[in-house]
Amino acid sequence: MIYFDNGSTSYPKAPGVGEAMANLLAHAGFNANRGGYSGAYAVEDMVLDTRELVCRLFHWDDPKGVIFTANVTQSLNMLLKGYLAPGDHVVVSSLEHNAVMRPLTQLVKHGVAFDAAQADAAGVLPVERVEALLRPQTKLVALTHASNVCGTVLPICEVGALCKKRGVRFVVDSAQTAGVLPIDLQALGADALAFTGHKGLLGPQGIGGMVIAEDFAQALTPLLSGGTGSASDSEEVPPFLPDKFESGTLNLPGIAGLRAALGYVLSAGTATLHSAEMALAARFLQGAETLSGVRIVGKKDTQGRVAVVSLDFTPASLDNAMVAYKLDSEYGIMTRCGLHCAPRAHKTLGTFPQGTIRFAFGHRNTAQEVDICIDALTKIIREG
Ligand code: ALA
Repeated sequence: MIYFDNGSTSYPKAPGVGEAMANLLAHAGFNANRGGYSGAYAVEDMVLDTRELVCRLFHWDDPKGVIFTANVTQSLNMLLKGYLAPGDHVVVSSLEHNAVMRPLTQLVKHGVAFDAAQADAAGVLPVERVEALLRPQTKLVALTHASNVCGTVLPICEVGALCKKRGVRFVVDSAQTAGVLPIDLQALGADALAFTGHKGLLGPQGIGGMVIAEDFAQALTPLLSGGTGSASDSEEVPPFLPDKFESGTLNLPGIAGLRAALGYVLSAGTATLHSAEMALAARFLQGAETLSGVRIVGKKDTQGRVAVVSLDFTPASLDNAMVAYKLDSEYGIMTRCGLHCAPRAHKTLGTFPQGTIRFAFGHRNTAQEVDICIDALTKIIREG
């Protein structure tokens, strides 16, 4: 079994993740912020500790600004729908996935407008293309840090500086980069960063969050309201963080798993994890160059990208889905083919509607697995 679908979710998870979750459920399955007993306080400490680890990873100094949600999608919905109003204008890139595009498309029906800054056919987006779209009504720029289709890294530092200069809110989607690229939120000047626990952070599915600046948080309306275990004398949502955005019981087993994963990622170091994955991507790109009639989608080198590589087999007169099926059924190689919840990105890269097969490398993949995959693809192409 060879798992190359880490862009969708990482597997295996970091050492200790499963144990931390099972341990919480078996020995400390209490609620946080509700009970007046030591077991509940211990769970609250665990949650706070996890917020602090998130702060360490993203260079943020206020654990109250770490809000736990289910995933990037939920965080982006909360940020976009909680902030934007009729008449507002938003700039995104043409590489966004549907976690951004679907909430925005819904908001268009409520009078919000958006423009997508066009990346080139290699998936590269110069900051000037974002700048050219800013108008007086532009309230927010939302950008993925790296494409989930072709792996290109977008210029978030430059866009962050631009947004600061122009007084526009800046939201970063770190779905493909949290845990593998360094992200310094203070240096970046972003107003919020959406993250998920189950991809580069090597944690479980169903836990993610956002890191948000206090003044931006105060400008947002929470999408959900309910009990927080705080300010229980009031029927209003508390205005303070993190409670304003954390109504209802948190995913505590998920947070316990995320805490273990963050411990692993922080001690291994994002630079170490990223360079190991990039060595595999480089080997794979080199092998893919030798495959006859196959198009490497996006950049062909390893500069300015994460370890996500898409190939299009249609120039070789092969159906991408059939190739992915053969990889799985005949060679035990797992990939994700199709449009990757990112139709606009595929249109940008010239792979709509046929899509691509995506190979996303992770911390436990090996060079030998990459070689087996290139051999398998060579055979599949030869057989036609
Ligand atoms: N956005 C996720 C992916 O790229 C689900 O597969």
